[in-house]
Amino acid sequence: MSNPAMSVQLAGMELKNPVVVASGTFGFGREYGQFYDLSELGAICVKGLTAAPREGNPPPRIAETPMGILNSVGLQNPGVDAFISTELPFLHRYDVKVIANISGNTPEEYGEMCQKLSSAGVDMIEVNISCPNVKAGGLAYGTRPDLAAEVTRMAKDHAGKIPVMVKLSPNVTDVTEIARAVADAGADALSLINTLRGMRIDVSSRRPILKMNTGGLSGPAVLPIAVRMVWEVASIGLPILGMGGVSDGDGAAQLMLAGASAVAVGTACFVDPYAPIKVRDELRDIAARQGLDGVSQLTGALRPW
Ligand SMILES: Cc1cc2nc3c(=O)[nH]c(=O)nc-3n(C[C@H](O)[C@H](O)[C@H](O)COP(=O)(O)O)c2cc1C
Repeated sequence: MSNPAMSVQLAGMELKNPVVVASGTFGFGREYGQFYDLSELGAICVKGLTAAPREGNPPPRIAETPMGILNSVGLQNPGVDAFISTELPFLHRYDVKVIANISGNTPEEYGEMCQKLSSAGVDMIEVNISCPNVKAGGLAYGTRPDLAAEVTRMAKDHAGKIPVMVKLSPNVTDVTEIARAVADAGADALSLINTLRGMRIDVSSRRPILKMNTGGLSGPAVLPIAVRMVWEVASIGLPILGMGGVSDGDGAAQLMLAGASAVAVGTACFVDPYAPIKVRDELRDIAARQGLDGVSQLTGALRPW
């Protein structure tokens, strides 16, 4: 047994441990802050922000599935300005890195949000080009290499000194094609995976459970897909924030071995608000049992057949 160091680097940003909370599953941290000190986390990735406030999609917008959930929340949020004036000061009371997740209708909107958030003092921007639940922008940017590159360039041009991480969609045939396009456009890091498009039907009424008909699948069911995609994208060489179905240290370690420098916990937070803390502690135990000096030594240490 060793006593592994828990800090990791993600695109030049030092995290005190590799556990981040995933966008859209942790709000702006206020509710979870009633359970534990948010400074325990490596970073908080806030709910997806848009230029103007959004009410999101009509309910029902969550459907349970075997080993996961479908959601069609559709980026409900108070808008970037309200985040900066009300939520960011709250988060800055904690010793935790803040990652702002943004979605735009146009590349210019992404640029404007980056400028505002960078000046406001967030630590990193996560550019969401992979939301399956909004008509404009969102997934369209994440499935076309040229558009993904354009949004990345715009974000980089306006983010000042802070790193830009681009969040990839699993709803593509070849994730490395998009990853390479955003890497060439200057992205500092990649995060993946967002949710997978899915559908659930109520057989008696013959209606989809979700009012939007389809939604995005997350939770333990998607972990093997996330591990495979992180492994594929690791060959590009950019730092990776891995996510998708992590609910314990083993899942987090799998993503790190596949190439992730840090991992995000999403849907598991709905089941157990302490999930990110549990994942962190189990990850430390795994690294200790393997006699590592630091948990970062797991990153990319896969021994593929
Ligand atoms: C209810 C809900 C809302 C989400 N909202 C966002 C969002 O606003 N922006 C984003 O990039 N991803 C969003 N996601 C995707 C998660 O950040 C994450 O990529 C995905 O759920 C896979 O991780 P998980 O299986 O641990 O939840 C959302 C997921 C859920 C379940």
